[in-house]
Amino acid sequence: MDFSIKALDAKNTIASAKSGCVVVGVFENKKLSKAAKALDGAGEITAALKSGDITGKAGTTLLLRGLKGAAADRVLLVGLGAEETVSEKAIGSAINAAIKALGTVAATDAIIALPLEEVKGRDANWAIRSVVLAGRDAVYRTDAQKSKKDPAWAGPKKLALAVANNAGNKLSLSQAVATANGMELTKELGNLSANVCTPTYLANVAKKLGKDFGFEVEILDRKQMEALKMGSFLSVTNGSEQAPKFIVLKHKGGKAKDAPTVLVGKGITFDTGGISIKAGPGMDEMKYDMCGAGSVLGTFRAIGEMGLKSNVVGIVAACENMPSGRATKPGDIVTSMNGLTIEILNTDAEGRLILCDALTYAERFNPAAVIDVATLTGACIVALGHHNSGVFARDDDAGNALVDALMASGKATGDTAWRLPIGEQYNEQLKSNFADLANIGTPGGASCTAAAFLENFTRKYPWAHVDIAGTAWKSGAAKGATGRPVPMLTNFLIGRAG
Ligand code: BES
Ligand code: MN
Ligand code: ZN
Repeated sequence: MDFSIKALDAKNTIASAKSGCVVVGVFENKKLSKAAKALDGAGEITAALKSGDITGKAGTTLLLRGLKGAAADRVLLVGLGAEETVSEKAIGSAINAAIKALGTVAATDAIIALPLEEVKGRDANWAIRSVVLAGRDAVYRTDAQKSKKDPAWAGPKKLALAVANNAGNKLSLSQAVATANGMELTKELGNLSANVCTPTYLANVAKKLGKDFGFEVEILDRKQMEALKMGSFLSVTNGSEQAPKFIVLKHKGGKAKDAPTVLVGKGITFDTGGISIKAGPGMDEMKYDMCGAGSVLGTFRAIGEMGLKSNVVGIVAACENMPSGRATKPGDIVTSMNGLTIEILNTDAEGRLILCDALTYAERFNPAAVIDVATLTGACIVALGHHNSGVFARDDDAGNALVDALMASGKATGDTAWRLPIGEQYNEQLKSNFADLANIGTPGGASCTAAAFLENFTRKYPWAHVDIAGTAWKSGAAKGATGRPVPMLTNFLIGRAG
């Protein structure tokens, strides 16, 4: 889907715009938006509202053809709700409804003339991104591994946004498209089956990104990880025939002296649970256990395309968690890269075991901040459902600036997150009789004890952990990766780049 800006003025009016379809808003109190008024020369829109064919409730739609006051072939009316002040929620559902309705409109192009620059409490940047992400989500098909492809999007492939053609809007559009491209990569990687999307496959994707966008990419193999003494990471890959990969990407968009922001992704390309094996039903979904890694690669795709002016390092810790005669057993004790010994009481709590060594490795970059992203705990789904990712961080007197920035960025992009606690009490739950700490806590607060475990390895820099177990993919009939939290991370990095 191609997006562009269509600036309207006294000369180029919505009425004179030649297009397959123009999309305009109407209100619930039978009032017309400015754009709708401009097309209502012969009163067809007023009549449609009067007749009740469209109520104007947010998210309702009606397609009209051959309006006398419009040069366009069709006019799609979209409800904006009761008020004449456009609320964020109403325009959000209007955008989604418009995209859905356009899916069956046999036009090659359309102009979205919804009041994108008049949303209460939101700027055009927000609205432009909302249209682009909704549009790109609608055209996405999960058919990479099907011999017969799913029917393609049947609606217009060219969408013009009726907003001012200024530098700010142009930048917003290009950033939104880059974000959508990043999300698409993340979805693609998540949806690929685990026999294809192996650690080696992720390493090759990283190399390709390096070539396409100029990132420095380094792939460490098992020997190099052994030399670094990543005993915790390596304990997870013991049972697997697939070679583990430790992938490092560097985006050098800032000054050489500027400390980088580091993103760390959990890349378990399949999580059987290991010797603490998972139950059969639904185990296929553990191919998504690399979505943290996928979102780091997707975010790099996005910032590479937009040429972000700051330094960012990406670390992807990738391996499989499999049972075998060589697999790690419950009770085994391993030594992590920072020297702490870990009693592995449950081999299914493997994410933290690979992440802790990746977090220690991150120290060498003297980072301004480190954010790790992981499908870490089923308990996070119990706590927050599928709406919000969980964010965790140490507290200082003023709360935590990283958490605030991540949550604000999530709110701005509709990729929301909610803070959950860590702290001394959760660390107490991780005590081991035989090692420095255990890899699972005593019962209760499993997302918090998982995050508290990671915190032990992050004391040399500002750090936040994002648990995306509930947000990275959807189960059920529409099973598939969501591309989250690429919007949150990308927007967060844009904010830090200033
Ligand atoms: N990858 C899982 C977490 C997960 C489960 C994500 C379900 C999404 C859906 C993780 O490796 C895991 O198995 N965690 C265990 C931890 C437990 C053993 C303390 C869990 O959540 O059950
Ligand atoms: Mn697991
Ligand atoms: Zn896992």
